[in-house]
Amino acid sequence: MTQYVINGGNKLHGEIEISGAKNAAVAIIPAALMVNGVCRIENLPQISDVSTLLNILKEMGAVIRVVDKRTIDIDCSHVGTSSATFDTMRRIRASYYLIGALLGRFGKADVAMPGGCNFGGVRPIDQHMKGFVAMGAEMTVQNGIVSATTGGRLRGASIYLDVVSVGATINLMLGAALADGNTFIENAAREPHIVDLANFLNSMGADIRGAGTNVIKVRGARRLNGGFYSIIPDQIEAGTYMAAVAGAGGEVLIKDVIPKHLECISGKLREMGVSVFEHEDSVTVRRVAPLLGAHVKTMPYPGFPTDMQPQISTILSTATGTSTVTEGVWDNRFSYTDELAKMGGSIRVIGRTAIIEGVPYITGAPIKAGDLRAGAALVIAGLCARGVTVLEGVNYIERGYEKMIKKLSAIGADIHSRYVSDEPQIVVQEAG
Ligand code: EPZ
Repeated sequence: MTQYVINGGNKLHGEIEISGAKNAAVAIIPAALMVNGVCRIENLPQISDVSTLLNILKEMGAVIRVVDKRTIDIDCSHVGTSSATFDTMRRIRASYYLIGALLGRFGKADVAMPGGCNFGGVRPIDQHMKGFVAMGAEMTVQNGIVSATTGGRLRGASIYLDVVSVGATINLMLGAALADGNTFIENAAREPHIVDLANFLNSMGADIRGAGTNVIKVRGARRLNGGFYSIIPDQIEAGTYMAAVAGAGGEVLIKDVIPKHLECISGKLREMGVSVFEHEDSVTVRRVAPLLGAHVKTMPYPGFPTDMQPQISTILSTATGTSTVTEGVWDNRFSYTDELAKMGGSIRVIGRTAIIEGVPYITGAPIKAGDLRAGAALVIAGLCARGVTVLEGVNYIERGYEKMIKKLSAIGADIHSRYVSDEPQIVVQEAG
């Protein structure tokens, strides 16, 4: 088992480079299945969710060539199957994008029900299924496998999403890209990675308009051809390091970002007394005065992102006064607050709202992450705390953050990982 050991209290200074967006990469890699020819994908983040998806594609017969550490060529021309190994699929949430990609390409799909982060609530896919049924697919779920079939190809349809769902918007866009006729996705999600996927598909020959608004129109293409594409920077990785600087104090230049994607985060940090300066493709975050309490509500983009909720609650733990953080996307995403309580944080959760009484400081403790963003938040807690924090469950962090320890160490954090055996220790006493 790997643990992160953090000696808190250092201020952060220097520069940090942001990697390609995880949630764009995990949509674009399955989309490569729909392409006849070689897709060159640049700015891929080096994270375990990306490796898992590439392994799924390889198992299906894709040829993958590593060009350099951030660039790969994927050739799915010879993939002839509509299913993959279910065990690998279950490890990752984004495997559900294989449903849209395989339905688009083969008119049928067999995909294991997605795994991924479980923050305590149910993660349904009814809106994905409703959309594919409207497009003419027959869908069944048995023994944890989603099976979808069509007579030949999906047919374009008008689909109104009952909830603003990132996953359903992406999945239906994938299927629609190779359907017969036009598809309209209404009440669509507008996250930056939805626009990125649309740009990727359009650069391969799809005809998708309106991505980034709440109505997306897809004119089905007969085929998609290979090409080049570079993934956008990761909004949430950038936001996580912005929160780390806000919490620990100091001044850091966060490079290779799209400042517009960060406005929802920058605005909230400014309310908390943090200076955020936007440049062309970077932001400077500086915090010298004590943090001020704030009220936050998570919402679909362009609202404050749910994937930043644990990080902002963590830094509000040592802000002045009483803050509230309301989760507007997921039923339950507050399990990490029990770990913050072990560090001296004072957070009460009532329904979907956390009420945070700011304390002067928190202290290091042995704690455990239960999901990706909770893990990132607990690293920030360790950086802000007095004393040593030992964090378990870091495999979640490595699913979505490239080289977090290296990046944080470079800006002055005292953090390292260590391996601890899970085996029970047998003490052998020497005779005599
Ligand atoms: C994506 O998950 C992200 N994952 C999540 O990021 C993120 O938290 C979430 O969008 C919201 O922004 C990926 O992109 C791989 P949703 P997704 O469908 O697509 C309800 C991270 O930390 N809903 O937008 O699964 C659902 O219960 C991860 O990087 C239905 O009711 O989320 C939730 O309340 C974690 N029926 C809301 O919609 C459905 O069919 C939004 O979910 C689908 C969703």
